[in-house]
Amino acid sequence: MNYFVTGGAGFIGSNLVDRLLSLGDAVTVYDNFSTGIPEYLETAKKHPGFHVINGDLLDQEKLSSALAGCDFVFHLAANADVRFGTEHPAKDLHQNTIATFNVLEAMRKNSINKIAFSSTGSVYGEAKVIPTPEDAPFPVQTSLYGASKLAGEGLIAAYCEGFGFQGWIFRFVSILGERYPHGHVFDFYKQLRAHPDHLDVLGNGHQKKSYLYVQDCIDAIFIAQEKSRDKVNIFNLGTDEYCEVKDSINWICGHLNLKPEIRYTGGERGWIGDNPFIFLDCKKIHSLGWKPKYTIHEGIVRTLEFLEQNLWVMERR
Ligand SMILES: NC(=O)c1ccc[n+]([C@@H]2O[C@H](COP(=O)([O-])OP(=O)(O)OC[C@H]3O[C@@H](n4cnc5c(N)ncnc54)[C@H](O)[C@@H]3O)[C@@H](O)[C@H]2O)c1
Repeated sequence: MNYFVTGGAGFIGSNLVDRLLSLGDAVTVYDNFSTGIPEYLETAKKHPGFHVINGDLLDQEKLSSALAGCDFVFHLAANADVRFGTEHPAKDLHQNTIATFNVLEAMRKNSINKIAFSSTGSVYGEAKVIPTPEDAPFPVQTSLYGASKLAGEGLIAAYCEGFGFQGWIFRFVSILGERYPHGHVFDFYKQLRAHPDHLDVLGNGHQKKSYLYVQDCIDAIFIAQEKSRDKVNIFNLGTDEYCEVKDSINWICGHLNLKPEIRYTGGERGWIGDNPFIFLDCKKIHSLGWKPKYTIHEGIVRTLEFLEQNLWVMERR
């Protein structure tokens, strides 16, 4: 297969690219390197079936010609940071919704009709049903990021109906693991390197979150694509556990052998749009035979080990 991976220089995308290449597939990465890291593609570049195009999804012409000859699109490029949405309200709309529309249009022009999309558990807003299943009551949005991703999901479903596309939509919890360049483990480790005696934490530390290790996430994506062949295939991807931010702090400090003073900003939420309890019902993906191999604790430790061995990543952000 000839795969096209938008956002392939990013955290999840570059891990996916390496996996696809290791399975003998050809891969074209399309990335504007806004948050993508060129070094993440070093292994991929040694592969004869690999191409990288430095391009923006908002450049429709370049995107359309880049897609020629591909069979399947993994659309991962996005503004992946949920936290700062209200600081730049147009960013999520452009980078997540309009960019997704551009990908779909470019696919249509090139007669490519299979797409997998990295959506998010944030589309459930502050769900009333926990663990939250894929068919939870139509969610009220609480972040521009979630809203822009849900709009992207809607466009994909409409292209499936209107133009005979087939779509796989994955609503991820927070993903952890090698090449992790943003999120709470990154922030906490960065702080603790700068001042090991104290740690500033957004919220009251009781926010409950679920996390998934990146290789488990990729396994689940492959299984869903192989075994679920509906027109629109929507899957929650997460672990069957959650932890409090305080648990995560204990694991991180335990691993680093530090006992900092923890300073909470207070309140149930870390920021506007932060969901104090994210826990997804993953029975649907389990029914296809997938199970995560790593616990949240193990995922956090693997992430820290990666950052400890790759301190240069900390300096890039
Ligand atoms: N990391 C998580 O915990 C998580 C959770 C839920 C959903 N997701 C989704 O998974 C996907 C990948 O996330 P990630 O953590 O790897 O993020 P990332 O920031 O590491 O990767 C995103 C990639 O997209 C590229 N990109 C952004 N805008 C672009 C544009 N306009 N044109 C071309 N390239 C562009 C960036 O340069 C980067 O390489 C995103 O869609 C994100 O919303 C991530």
